Amino acid sequence: MSGTQTTYNDKVVRQFAVMTVIWGIVGMLVGVIIAAQLVWPELNYGPWLAYGRLRPLHTNAVIFAFGGCALFATSYWCVQRTSHARLWGGPLIPFTFWGWQLVILLAALSLPLGFTTGKEYAELEWPIDILITLVWVSYGLVFFGTIAKRTVSHIYVANWFFGSMIIAVALLHLVNSAAVPVSLTRSFSVYSGVQDAMIQWWYGHNAVGFFLTAGFLGMMYYFVPKQAGRPVYSYRLSVVHFWALIFTYMWAGPHHLHYTALPDWTQSVGMLFSLILLAPSWGGMINGIMTLSGAWHKLRDDPILKFLITSLSFYGMSTFEGPMMSIKTVNALSHYTDWTVGHVHSGALGWVAMVSIGSMYYLLPRLFGKSEMYSTALVTVHFWIATIGTVLYIASMWIAGVMQGLMWRAVNADGTLAYSFVESVKGSYPFWAIRWLGGVLFLSGMLIMAYNMFKTMAGGNTKDAPVIAPAAHHA
Ligand code: HEM
Ligand code: HEM
Repeated sequence: MSGTQTTYNDKVVRQFAVMTVIWGIVGMLVGVIIAAQLVWPELNYGPWLAYGRLRPLHTNAVIFAFGGCALFATSYWCVQRTSHARLWGGPLIPFTFWGWQLVILLAALSLPLGFTTGKEYAELEWPIDILITLVWVSYGLVFFGTIAKRTVSHIYVANWFFGSMIIAVALLHLVNSAAVPVSLTRSFSVYSGVQDAMIQWWYGHNAVGFFLTAGFLGMMYYFVPKQAGRPVYSYRLSVVHFWALIFTYMWAGPHHLHYTALPDWTQSVGMLFSLILLAPSWGGMINGIMTLSGAWHKLRDDPILKFLITSLSFYGMSTFEGPMMSIKTVNALSHYTDWTVGHVHSGALGWVAMVSIGSMYYLLPRLFGKSEMYSTALVTVHFWIATIGTVLYIASMWIAGVMQGLMWRAVNADGTLAYSFVESVKGSYPFWAIRWLGGVLFLSGMLIMAYNMFKTMAGGNTKDAPVIAPAAHHA
């Protein structure tokens, strides 16, 4: 039939890839601003730009705009290449791009204006939730429609991870967002009390497990072997840890609600499943890192591989730390402190952002008809700035977190508190300043990436690549 039947749809991948970098800069800039507000409180302007409103803007922008665009771009690329088929879905495909951008725009307007459901990571009000549902269902149709028309019988393991992410996020979003609207901008959750809290953290933890983990593992399973030029270390391990991971994550949510009104046994179930979660998480990390066996020398001068492999190291680190923090006695110290924030960003900067950045550096030249990025040296610079930024961020938060936890529980001989809360805030300032510096470094790396990206795009060729027939494919 027409020529379009024999090429991949790279246009939508290109759109999402470019927006990954743009939204990464926006989301991290807001991160740097709120980090600065904690050091210099006078930077809180009016109600709209105050910390309380910018914080959810930061989390939504980095997770759903930056992370979301990276997931769309990489899953659309991967599912076409590994299915040897052009994306299915006609108008649904551009709808996923423009619909998702509209969601982001509405979030960027409504959050600073103060419209929020108050549920962390699910703050957007009901009309936006409906738009998210429409986009997400279209995404599922496009993704699974493409799997259905694949010209090879095998479904490559990266697609299992992407697919589970799409299904689980749909389920989480629909259940946790159930609400009764009272106006266009206000609604009330259908759940109440401790049930509401449990549903929210079942959502919250699985947003980490599926949006921030399973989808990015899909990315890892495609781009690490590609960039290393080696097959996945153990295909059997990839399948075993896939099932173990998705089964176990679903039960770990209660570790966000230790020592609350949630029944004690439920908290213990959450803790137990979190401890078990270490095994499948490390299965994925080991499988990714060991894919390099026999090709370790490539790490020396390939900065894209550096990003990908370092991201796996941070993944391993944060999935060791998480199970430890889920132990109730440890959580008694870490909860409410900056330790949690450090854990979050060792996952978010070290794992999610680094694996996305590495994957984008793989994709961008290919999407614009170039053999490599405009400057490989700048990719190396970006790698080091990002790594130093991440280390400054998480190390300062660990120290601040443990310090806060210890100060809050310290008591004098007569049982009175040894420190006032304000004293712990005062003690935290130097660490918040170091965190801000780490953030500035990480953001600078993203700006370098944007420069490199636009230079790579200049004079590029945006013709869609032809679909490779399965027999001719050796990857
Ligand atoms: C085996 C894997 C993991 C386990 C068992 C785990 C466990 C935990 C625990 C116990 C907390 C603290 C809850 C509290 O005291 O409030 C937490 C917080 C958090 N973790 Fe993890 N974690 C894991 C991996 C990750 C990864 C890889 C990421 C990011 C990509 C991540 C993102 C988060 C976020 C965003 C929070 C903060 C939630 C909030 O209070 O807003 N976690 N995690
Ligand atoms: C330049 C980079 C970044 C900076 C400077 C930054 C800064 C911050 C700050 C200051 C907070 C609030 C901490 C608090 O309330 O005490 C925060 C929260 C958060 N950030 Fe970032 N961030 C950055 C990148 C990212 C990225 C890339 C992600 C995700 C992919 C992310 C996810 C989160 C999450 C989930 C929270 C909420 C944590 C919680 O509730 O425990 N951040 N960030």
